[in-house]
Amino acid sequence: MTSTFSRRTLLKLGLLSGAGLVASDFAYASLKDRTESLITAEPFQRPLQIPPVLNPVRSDATTDYYELTLQRSSLPYFSNQATETWSYNGMVPGPIIRQVGGPDPEVRRQSIVRVTNNLDRDDRGELIQTVLHLHGMGALAQYDGYATDFVAPNQSKDYHYPNDRAGTLWYHDHVMDLTARNVNMGLAGFYIVEDPREAELNLPTGDYDIPLLIQRKQFSKKGGFLLNRAKSDPDLEGEYTLVNGIPLPYFKVEPRKYRFRLLNASPVRHFQIAVSRSRNRLTSNEPLTVIGSDGGLLSEPVTLANSAQQPLPLGIGERYDVIIDFSRYAPGDEVYLHRVLNTVDTAGQVRARAEFQRIMRFDVNESAALETVDNDLPIQLRTIEPLATLANADNLTQRTFVFNREKTGDRRWTINEQVFDTERIDAEIKSGSVEIWTLINPLDDVTHPVHLHLVEGQLLERNGQPPRPYERGLKDVFVLGPEETLRVAFRFDSQALEQVAGIFMMHCHQLIHEDRGMMGQFKVIA
Ligand code: C2O
Ligand code: CU
Repeated sequence: MTSTFSRRTLLKLGLLSGAGLVASDFAYASLKDRTESLITAEPFQRPLQIPPVLNPVRSDATTDYYELTLQRSSLPYFSNQATETWSYNGMVPGPIIRQVGGPDPEVRRQSIVRVTNNLDRDDRGELIQTVLHLHGMGALAQYDGYATDFVAPNQSKDYHYPNDRAGTLWYHDHVMDLTARNVNMGLAGFYIVEDPREAELNLPTGDYDIPLLIQRKQFSKKGGFLLNRAKSDPDLEGEYTLVNGIPLPYFKVEPRKYRFRLLNASPVRHFQIAVSRSRNRLTSNEPLTVIGSDGGLLSEPVTLANSAQQPLPLGIGERYDVIIDFSRYAPGDEVYLHRVLNTVDTAGQVRARAEFQRIMRFDVNESAALETVDNDLPIQLRTIEPLATLANADNLTQRTFVFNREKTGDRRWTINEQVFDTERIDAEIKSGSVEIWTLINPLDDVTHPVHLHLVEGQLLERNGQPPRPYERGLKDVFVLGPEETLRVAFRFDSQALEQVAGIFMMHCHQLIHEDRGMMGQFKVIA
């Protein structure tokens, strides 16, 4: 990686989108990945860790009860140097909650997650509040993690979840104005809802179903996490790519298919994923097969035959479940996940020679099993009924939201020229209705991953073109790139909840944008 990016190019790529985080990008622009400079030994020396699955503290006929405790923990990130983190149950990322669920009420279990805040005060002496949001779950408003619905130090709150959507969800802190800091400090983890009917699809499971929580995090020179400090902070050292909390890990794989559940839990950075046979190059014709997105399985697998040319965008907050088939490679081969930095066009293609950073390495071993089970992928994964079509759009309520920035003053981030106000409702919506929302980004230098709580949506159009094949499932994050216009259908209900009513947030999931104004709220009316 030798070439350098101009600021303009980085802006175009949407990589400089975070206010106050620019200094680290300059340091980074030479493309010498600073993740590697913090590790005294060679990169890819530490094995990938899979966060443990959290056992319920008790279960009854319908419900499993879980406990998440926020605490300070000191964990070795780089060179065995201890780094102060804020963790759930002492680990970063938090433990994985795996629950049984899906549309069938006979099958699904309820969850009650008790969050206890054992944090105290931050370095400015302020109490560290928390809010838990389970991203992707349709929960009643009082359990949804509204930004000011705080759990203060020494307090607990029970959050109830119906688990009616099977998919790769995640939980994270959502405190008003400080979400970027709190997520960067460690407050995020997977929550996976599995529909037992998926077993019929013969997808890779168990040791071959691996969640990968990918983050670019801000660290200070001393190895600690950066806490929202000014860009002039002399301690600011830069950004690092972590997978399940480990910088640039390796993972031993058998020559077979694996399912990876990819989540971008970065506070402010977008990813685009490619597979490569080389540490130093993007090799061509390395396929990546997408089987699921934010809201669970796609209707059919989508193979990106040349992932260097057509990387899989993984915007902040987005999830994609992918299959990588390591039987294409020989024992002893090294296969890499790289982060493609170029901007992609409406069709998802890279036009120029791709630039990248490394994410992790897979080491292909001999197969442990005598007979390798092959997971032949089914042609169809599930049926997804369209929420709406553009042809019948005129019969539905339509709304337009413009994601922009104040031109003067604090230059806060705005939706329809307004910053978040807890007292203002931005849309009143009838429970159960379907609406078509047009999302517009007039700026040419930032990307906004737009997220609505409660609902799942379906992309109908990207810049007047049909959505890319992997964007056609149910999603809750819509990556709105520079100068892009998206049209998205949403249905404002949750099938497990009797009647949804209440106030829910919508926002940009670039957490600095969210913390600095780019959030609104809609009221669902019974
Ligand atoms: Cu993942 Cu409102 O957030
Ligand atoms: Cu944004």
